[in-house]
Amino acid sequence: MPNSDGIFEFRGVCGAILGCLCGYFSQGVRMILKDRGVFDINRIPATIPVRNNLIEEIVNKIRLSEVYRLFISGVTGNGKTSSVKRALEILGNEIIPVYINCSETNSYTSISKHILEIVRDKPFSEKGKNRDELADELKRMLLTKRTKKLVFVFDEVDKLIEKKDNHVDIFSPLLNYGKVSFILISNDPNIFGKMQGMLRSRMQLEVKMLSAYQPGDILEILKQKAEEGMIEGSYDIETLATISKFSSDIWGDIRVAIKLLEKTAVITEMLGKDKISEEIIKEAIKELQMSEIDKVFPTLPRHLRWVVVALCLESRKNNGFGVTYPNAYETYGLLAQKERFGKVGDRQYRAYLDDLEMLRLFDFQWKPAVNRRGRVRIAIPKFDFESFLVGISAE
Ligand SMILES: Nc1ncnc2c1ncn2[C@@H]1O[C@H](COP(=O)(O)OP(=O)(O)OP(=O)(O)O)[C@@H](O)[C@H]1O
Ligand SMILES: [Mg+2]
Repeated sequence: MPNSDGIFEFRGVCGAILGCLCGYFSQGVRMILKDRGVFDINRIPATIPVRNNLIEEIVNKIRLSEVYRLFISGVTGNGKTSSVKRALEILGNEIIPVYINCSETNSYTSISKHILEIVRDKPFSEKGKNRDELADELKRMLLTKRTKKLVFVFDEVDKLIEKKDNHVDIFSPLLNYGKVSFILISNDPNIFGKMQGMLRSRMQLEVKMLSAYQPGDILEILKQKAEEGMIEGSYDIETLATISKFSSDIWGDIRVAIKLLEKTAVITEMLGKDKISEEIIKEAIKELQMSEIDKVFPTLPRHLRWVVVALCLESRKNNGFGVTYPNAYETYGLLAQKERFGKVGDRQYRAYLDDLEMLRLFDFQWKPAVNRRGRVRIAIPKFDFESFLVGISAE
């Protein structure tokens, strides 16, 4: 449990940060990172090692086939999106590419609007148009004669297929009218089983399962990131190999490997050193392993921290959720007893709950009350509250 005066100290973390800052001030900054944008995992890199053959194959097949239909699957962070986007970039003006991220755009209307706007290259107002009218617009657009091939990419297509009616309505016209190539991407290889049967057989998709990156692949990618983003002499291949091996064993996701290299470089800079080392990698790993709650918690106002603890204690009682009122409020009241002005009123408490929802630390839902009439609002921690409580009590 937290100590009696309620002060939460994150000694280890502060120590590491202080250590870095001391190095920073005593020895000045030596620049190691020459371009931090290289480590931006949302950016499509100009060169994509390991996936060159795949990219070349996609480019050639789109160029040479009348219609090309591909489904790419494989674990998260193994270069599916980057490879396909890079292939579209290479094809450039030869085609009309329409990229749709189905986790953001997955309603019939929003997808139709997006497709119509990209292909016609002008705004399209869907206001006042019903589904049939939109379908007619799409059909007309698909039947329009054009010299450039239409290539549609449905990334994270599982989010669309799970919305059953939409996927049939979206894909049917693409199969029925004109000659449209498309690439579907998902990290769920079984998503096809959930597609409407008739549609599935008409799609005639080529299926590619991309394997996870092996340590050698990760090394190749990190080498490229280091060459583009770090100054010469600030790393050597052995150290990059250590990062690759470690990332592959523990996470297997290239995003984490890239973040680990970047963090290692940042700490090295702050320590005023001119070369990354194994010692610093260990420090960077510690920071990466800190969960979101561990990072956010120390930044919250005191009373909000007590509310988080109260909700976690209640979640422990109920196997995963806390009743926000009155149960968690009462527990918070007990925890805040020794605060100078005691607990906050329930209005402020509700405002705290809104803050926690906004910070995405908890999900809030309504549930029928047990032994009472009406419904209660419950909070479900989106983090491992058991480990969090253990961490707190160790402090
Ligand atoms: N072969 C590679 N070379 C260079 N960078 C890469 C490579 N593969 C992935 N990356 C980097 O990792 C990030 C994640 O890759 P990407 O988005 O392509 O993975 P994904 O397979 O689509 O993952 P998810 O299944 O989670 O959508 C990319 O933004 C890119 O910066
Ligand atoms: Mg992706």
